Amino acid sequence: MLGNFSYCNPTKLYFGDESLDYLNTELPKYGKNVVLIYGGGSIKKNGIYDAVVKILKDNDKNVAEIAGVMPNPTVDKLYEGVETARGHQADLLLAVGGGSVCDYAKAVSVSVNCDEDPWEKYYLRFEEPDCETLPVGCVLTMVGTGSEMNAGAVITNPKTKQKIGHVFADEKIMPKFAILNPKYTLTLPHYQMVAGIYDIFNHICEQYFSGDDDNTSDYISEGLMRSVVHASRIANENPQDYEARSNLMWAATWALNTLVSRGKSTDWMVHMLGQSVGAYTDATHGMTLAAVSLPYYRYILPYGVQKFKRFAVNVWDVNPEGKTDEQVAKEGLTAMESWMKELGLVMNITELGATEDMIGGIADGTLIMPGGYKVLNREEIINILKESL
Ligand code: NZQ
Ligand code: ZN
Repeated sequence: MLGNFSYCNPTKLYFGDESLDYLNTELPKYGKNVVLIYGGGSIKKNGIYDAVVKILKDNDKNVAEIAGVMPNPTVDKLYEGVETARGHQADLLLAVGGGSVCDYAKAVSVSVNCDEDPWEKYYLRFEEPDCETLPVGCVLTMVGTGSEMNAGAVITNPKTKQKIGHVFADEKIMPKFAILNPKYTLTLPHYQMVAGIYDIFNHICEQYFSGDDDNTSDYISEGLMRSVVHASRIANENPQDYEARSNLMWAATWALNTLVSRGKSTDWMVHMLGQSVGAYTDATHGMTLAAVSLPYYRYILPYGVQKFKRFAVNVWDVNPEGKTDEQVAKEGLTAMESWMKELGLVMNITELGATEDMIGGIADGTLIMPGGYKVLNREEIINILKESL
């Protein structure tokens, strides 16, 4: 391992089917005014809302609500939430939902005491907060993003067709605590479950397919990837399998809580492509990644053959005997493709609503990141997007 780094992750996790009880441990640490933030209503159907509200009442909290946080939360919704949190003089933002709700709570947290426009400051100029931020707690109901234990907050501006993620530099933006009860994920529709599974897997890929140094992170990543593939097959057959869903939940957290990126370079181009597709289509995050992944990886494979070969052997058990490195590397991606199809992932952006005439705009909205085996230019992005149609 060659990189220099610091590592701190202050999020306290409570994991398991009784973890919500620990909300009683956390709430007394904060003031009386809580803003409860949730999505489009799934938590009202499955009873999580009632359980959380009861605990808030038992702890004598004064609660305001921000409801209707949509998947891929928008900048207008952010402005609305900032007003609610200000009006309520919030002491704690409690996010109950998936990555969208959790990301949104972090975006409100950095915006409540900010005098400038948060979209311009945090998402266009990528500045860090210089105001006081609010503590965020999270009760997670959807698995995939890792938002429960990181400082990322992705916001979409539908008017300008930009979907931008800001990973805040200061770990104080990470949730103060997160409650992870795998049972809460059992009501997820199959489409969301598998989209989340691919999101986990791709987070690991983005941090794995970069650099050629020998580092501990890559070994951790291979273990996590094997666990995700194993648990996903069980969950796909039987979505009610608690053990598999529990492993997926834990793997998701570790895939993107900053651990496996320490001391190494990372790529993130699949996310940059997927986010721009999302800005045009409002499609489910994990599906946008699935739809662009193979055209991207097949394109960059020749520039990173050794890593793709290692992936094939160590993650997919491809037998390298009698084959060239490139053949082994390609077989790894073929194995990944079969697994993706087995799960029922969306394998092209057409199915997500993207059309040929959008390609130029999607390419323009794709942030080009260094770190991958080949830094793409606009023409290469266009070709990859066309391959993804
Ligand atoms: O809104 P409700 O009614 O709650 O329904 C949600 C939503 O429709 C539903 N859902 C969640 N939990 C459920 C449930 N339905 C039934 N039972 C449950 N237990 O699932 C749908 C999707 O939820 P959402 O929160 O949008 O999904 P996800 O967790 O995938 O979050 C996606 C957002 O996170 C961002 C994405 O870009 C996207 O905006 N990301 C955040 C990252 C981070 N913070 O580091 C990294 C990721 O790469 C990602 O970009
Ligand atoms: Zn993701």
